[in-house]
Amino acid sequence: METVVSGIRPTGELHLGNYFGAVKNFVKMQHESNCYFFIADYHSLTTHPTPGDLQGNVKRVLINYLAAGLDPEVCTLYIQSDVPEVTELYLLLNMNAYMGELQRVSSFKEKARKQPDNINAGLLTYPTLMAADILLHKALKVPVGKDQEQHLEMTRTFANRFNRMYNVEFFPEPLAYNFGSQLVKIPGLDGSGKMGKSEGEGNAIFLSDSTESIRKKMMKAVTDSGPTVENQEKPDAIQNLFTLMQVVSDPETYTFFDEQYNGCKIRYGDLKKQLAVDMDRFVAPLRERIEALENDNDYLRKVMRQGAEKARESAIKTVSEARHIIGFRSY
Ligand code: TRP
Repeated sequence: METVVSGIRPTGELHLGNYFGAVKNFVKMQHESNCYFFIADYHSLTTHPTPGDLQGNVKRVLINYLAAGLDPEVCTLYIQSDVPEVTELYLLLNMNAYMGELQRVSSFKEKARKQPDNINAGLLTYPTLMAADILLHKALKVPVGKDQEQHLEMTRTFANRFNRMYNVEFFPEPLAYNFGSQLVKIPGLDGSGKMGKSEGEGNAIFLSDSTESIRKKMMKAVTDSGPTVENQEKPDAIQNLFTLMQVVSDPETYTFFDEQYNGCKIRYGDLKKQLAVDMDRFVAPLRERIEALENDNDYLRKVMRQGAEKARESAIKTVSEARHIIGFRSY
């Protein structure tokens, strides 16, 4: 089976955009490949060196992924910092990572612009740490979005360079795995772009949202004054609500409101009420699993310990082989 590695940012609660964007595909992928999923807590220090609630954020992401269906008996789910071998591989790879190429990475340039007072070495070597994450398990596939493709290109560069420098065929070349057409882009509730946490309060529906909070957010969703011409194209804000309906409502419900819209008879209040009910029905089982997990620290601890153990098995093997290849010997 092909090995897959992917890192998850410890951003806390997940929203429906995350769910349909990545999580759902991870859940499917775990049954098709040998998957390693980890929460990239070391990486978060590159932008937040004194993190406020690192443990809390890591725990919340972990809980959300478990609630969404990642099965620790099926995939290897771990916290990056629980597998310290990654830092050794990072060190070894850094010796053959050049300043110039690291400085040219666009995510580095962007972050350097955003945090001019904290252009730290970790930020510069973010791609080496990410390469270490991937090469640690000799992954062939990395499910990432467009914004990570350059990092993956660097991973291939480092892998090939290592092989060439030490004259071995040790690291395979990992390829980006794009979910492509399987991806449903979930719009936010503010009438503009996609669902996101940073777009402001009320724009995103979280997997942990209560019935009441879902209802409130839905009722506040941006609409317009209604269609005036039959079968007119839906403006963005309205199309967004229909897109949401497509993922959480029955096809009949969707068709009903679509026809109402096309006949200029639509009442947005009714549509939003229906959408709130359907959204709640969709979120309810996820929310319930999140609540149950939040109170089950014993289980979470077990999952983490087991994940770290499984990940360290392949990590220790890779790192000790890499050390040997470079020439480290014990006396
Ligand atoms: N850089 C990725 C992101 O921002 C997270 C990440 C860290 C990652 N290490 C990884 C993704 C290894 C895939 C493989 O989303």
